[in-house]
Amino acid sequence: MTRSSVLLSRLWFALVVLRFVGSAGDVAAKVVDSTRTPFQVILNPTTTPATSVALTWRTEGPAPDQAVQFAVATPGTSFTAQAISVPARSETAILDTRAEGYYHSVVLSGLKPATRYLYRVGSEAGWTEWNQVLTAQTVPAPFAFVYFGDPQDGLKEHVTRIFRTADLLAPDAAFWLIAGDLTSEPEDAQIRDFFTAGGAAFRNRLVVPVAGNHDIAFLYDEAGNIVLNKKGKKQRGEELPPTWRAQFTLPENGVAGLEESNYHLDYQGVRLIVLNSNVRLADQAAWLEPRLATHPNRWTIVCFHHPLYSAGRDRDDRTTRDAFLPLFDKYRVDLVLTGHDHAYARSRPLRGSVAVPAGEHGTVYVVSSCGSKFYPVTPSNPDLMAKTAGDLQLCQKISIDGDRLRYVSVAADGSVNDAFELQKK
Ligand SMILES: [Fe+2]
Repeated sequence: MTRSSVLLSRLWFALVVLRFVGSAGDVAAKVVDSTRTPFQVILNPTTTPATSVALTWRTEGPAPDQAVQFAVATPGTSFTAQAISVPARSETAILDTRAEGYYHSVVLSGLKPATRYLYRVGSEAGWTEWNQVLTAQTVPAPFAFVYFGDPQDGLKEHVTRIFRTADLLAPDAAFWLIAGDLTSEPEDAQIRDFFTAGGAAFRNRLVVPVAGNHDIAFLYDEAGNIVLNKKGKKQRGEELPPTWRAQFTLPENGVAGLEESNYHLDYQGVRLIVLNSNVRLADQAAWLEPRLATHPNRWTIVCFHHPLYSAGRDRDDRTTRDAFLPLFDKYRVDLVLTGHDHAYARSRPLRGSVAVPAGEHGTVYVVSSCGSKFYPVTPSNPDLMAKTAGDLQLCQKISIDGDRLRYVSVAADGSVNDAFELQKK
């Protein structure tokens, strides 16, 4: 090696050492901050959406000083001077990895109806950006929401696109209703992808998640390992994982033991009922009847995961149909929104599993899907269907204005898949 080569190699070595020291310092600083940096921030509705909203988020490590700051929105940034701070309630939940997850939540109450608020979550160790949320009106008033079938697969790769399409389709949506199977497995890595797909939308409009069969927790043996069947497939129990209730802050007005997966709320003239069709159908039917029989809203919409009229002939679910159909018929439910079949099927207005004559009230049943898994479209009762389609990632905008409900189903490329209107007499 020549003298100049030796000098060059020493210089290179010194640069590498300096770079390593600098990187290590940066990493150390970021690790300290990142354990208290909010992520997976999500807005959920309460039972009083005109005067309160719920917020939940995570940090990578313990962060007992988390809070929400909020203020009525202003055209510029002057709202920050009026921001009020509310300390968060913090809790831990065991992840599928058996590590602890750190969750924080706040219900902002005492808000003004029909008012846009700005909020951020975190602490002096790191705040999110300011996000906004619009409270509901106290009386029936026109609004729109978006309904999705199962995200489940291709979360980051493909669901991101349909969520963005929905944002363009309905930038004013009051809430996003997601009809179960948020992920394929309730695993932390997939849940992170689900939130990546949701992006800023989850922080700027209410999200109404519904529990599907893929959202159910795995069974663990005494050693803490997931129980496998003979084919090596992971086995599930009947319960949602602890991360469900930790990650969402939802109404607790359902059947005891099914809090935050069975609930109802009223939004500007619509009674929205969410059922957990995985378990305890009879209990939920008993709970459901008085809530359908008497309520002050013009419209009744029910959402759960398993369809009463499947898009696949080998997927007919008579148990769920027998549990709920008599009540939907008796109390003239308008719209039933479901998922599970990885296809699209929208029924004609039905009563007693028969299409009603034109002009009579019937219930419209929809199956939809937004993820990258697709099943064949083979309904066992095609005569009951007004529209079927397959191999589409879809979102549905549902607009309510007085006695009229307008529905449009749009694919990820923006093309219209289906549309119809319902008119109250
Ligand atoms: Fe499913």
